[in-house]
Amino acid sequence: MTLQRIIRRAASLTILAAALLWAAPPTPNGLAPTPPMGWNSWNKFACNVSEDLIKRAADAMVKTGMKDAGYEFIVIDDCWQISRDAQGNIVPDAKHFPAGIKALADYVHSLGLKFGIYSDAGTQTCQHRPGTRGYEYQDARQYAAWGVDYLKFDWCSHTTQDAPSSYALMADALKVSGRPIVFSLCEWGSSKPWLWAGEVGNLWRTTGDIQDIWAGKGKEYGLGVMDIVDLQVTLGSYAGPGHWNDPDMLEVGNGGLTETENRSHFSLWAILAAPLMAGNDLDAMTPAIHDILTNKEVIAVDQDALCLEGRRVRHGEDGDVWVKELSDGSRAVVLLNRGTADQTINVTWEELGYPAHLEAAVRDLWAHKDLGKFTGSFSAPVASHAVAMITIKP
Ligand code: GLA
Repeated sequence: MTLQRIIRRAASLTILAAALLWAAPPTPNGLAPTPPMGWNSWNKFACNVSEDLIKRAADAMVKTGMKDAGYEFIVIDDCWQISRDAQGNIVPDAKHFPAGIKALADYVHSLGLKFGIYSDAGTQTCQHRPGTRGYEYQDARQYAAWGVDYLKFDWCSHTTQDAPSSYALMADALKVSGRPIVFSLCEWGSSKPWLWAGEVGNLWRTTGDIQDIWAGKGKEYGLGVMDIVDLQVTLGSYAGPGHWNDPDMLEVGNGGLTETENRSHFSLWAILAAPLMAGNDLDAMTPAIHDILTNKEVIAVDQDALCLEGRRVRHGEDGDVWVKELSDGSRAVVLLNRGTADQTINVTWEELGYPAHLEAAVRDLWAHKDLGKFTGSFSAPVASHAVAMITIKP
């Protein structure tokens, strides 16, 4: 074989291998090709859940245009369950869910949405309701019969259990349940789930619980938006189609953040390719919160088909620069001002992986405005705790 033919053969084998990889199903269950989007009851309502509340959230998801913006799952978190019956079946709290879970799932489905539920890998949930330990296959069969499309699986009361095998057991139970169910692991990053959970579930929490604060420890436990963001910086390479890092559900609109901070929180989750699970009262959103949660240009960055998590390319005294490669060859960029004073933040083409001489079009995703063409770098004034979120397209 001539050298040329060897090179040509090697090139075609590489293309074939790439095509095979591309065609491979993203995860064992083939679900969540892009980060899941939806709503979860916990951040706003904690244990105060009922079928009326969940129906109201589902109605609002449609009415507010959230569904049109891409939100899909309505998830009841902890406290829907109360006991087990003599056969070991999980029993919903009949006072708050009088029509039962199947009727509620049917209602959510009738609106063109998907339905999610919560349990725990240990003996009890974090609110001391019955956990799933020892009932994995029975619970999974029940969820499938009810029409559950998404399971968030927590990690309280796990005593000596091993996380990878506990979650793998439930993944298997879901697999044989007969219904496709997105599997959301919630073991708070305790045993580095990014290293093993890609083959087990579709998303995994990377940290302890988010609190409705910008930064610093909350009153009892938990982390602010900035604390969580700082814990994501080394995890980007573990995310991909069907398996996502989950920096926790959104606090946008829950009252603890300013409007500016809410916008920054949402922008950062989007550049992280994070699951976008709204956690506010959808029925009582201000127009400003509505506009944040339904900003289609920002959501498009989160959901981009290249499925790459953004990277922090600069961590300055007061300002950070995050970059996410997009499928059309452009880059999404977040310029984040963490400081207390307004400042101008720049990004260079070198930080984006572009040659300095390249001319590129810059678009502001919050102003919905083309800002013109720039060469070599771009800078913008950014208020305290604000972001500039832009795309840069050669
Ligand atoms: C844990 C989880 C939270 C929430 C509560 C419910 O703290 O991390 O997201 O599900 O339990 O009790």
